[in-house]
Amino acid sequence: MRPVDYDRVAAVFDERYARNRYDGTESALLQFIGAGRPATLEAGCGTGHWLARIAPQVEVAAGFDLSMNMLERARGVAIQAALVRATAERIPFDAGSFDRAFAINALHHFADPAAFIRECQRVLRVGGKFMTIGLDPNAGRDQWWVHDYFPAALEADRQRYLPAERIRDLLEAAGFIEPQTRVTEHMPAERSFEQAEREGLLDRRSTSQLMVISDEEFAEGMRRLRAEQPVLRADLRLYATSARVGDRHSYIPGAAAVH
Ligand SMILES: C[S@@+](CC[C@H](N)C(=O)[O-])C[C@H]1O[C@@H](n2cnc3c(N)ncnc32)[C@H](O)[C@@H]1O
Repeated sequence: MRPVDYDRVAAVFDERYARNRYDGTESALLQFIGAGRPATLEAGCGTGHWLARIAPQVEVAAGFDLSMNMLERARGVAIQAALVRATAERIPFDAGSFDRAFAINALHHFADPAAFIRECQRVLRVGGKFMTIGLDPNAGRDQWWVHDYFPAALEADRQRYLPAERIRDLLEAAGFIEPQTRVTEHMPAERSFEQAEREGLLDRRSTSQLMVISDEEFAEGMRRLRAEQPVLRADLRLYATSARVGDRHSYIPGAAAVH
């Protein structure tokens, strides 16, 4: 599986927000933030799309990301947020700094999700809340032309994405309580091959699924698509898994920072 270079993706990343509205994700996020203007951290904040959305509802916002080019764009839209380059397994904030921590479409990129979740438990205050939103290809409920025409992407996704149940287990192991998962977004979509090409969906940078596979696997999928010119169908769900920091911190500061 090839690593995804988000510095190369940054220039086209926000096209996904022109193609899809993500209303369910936005409302789940705003509900998660809630009233009370909580201090909020986004992990893998990318171009700052979600930090900009939550700005009116938070007193303090911070985001971190590995990619300088993604952060550069975030600086233009999430103007009140503290933005830093960092990796999810070593969050550069003090213990108990935040009331909310979330990651959207990012957890599957993190090399050590367990360490990331422990780090979130550390930087959250008692009673603080965590949420991650993403696909769950292991649930077997979705259909996606990307997986049909690029089978190596499906294989990669089954490895990259943790099943929701596993995320809940990691949350409990890190000292979170009341973990729960729900579908926040159901996105059925159909496009002709020409429309998909016009909208940039066949650009490898449009989705990490097309970047983790080899050049040969990509070329073979494109050859089939061009020969068949099919209607491209997607029926995807995004799942939100959330939990709250329990009364007692079971996490030992520093333990997650070991690489
Ligand atoms: C699919 S994008 C999602 C961006 C944003 N959350 C959104 O939904 O618009 C994933 C982001 O995770 C970042 N990322 C990948 N691995 C990371 C890591 N180990 N630590 C921090 N950020 C990481 C990437 O640079 C990228 O910006």
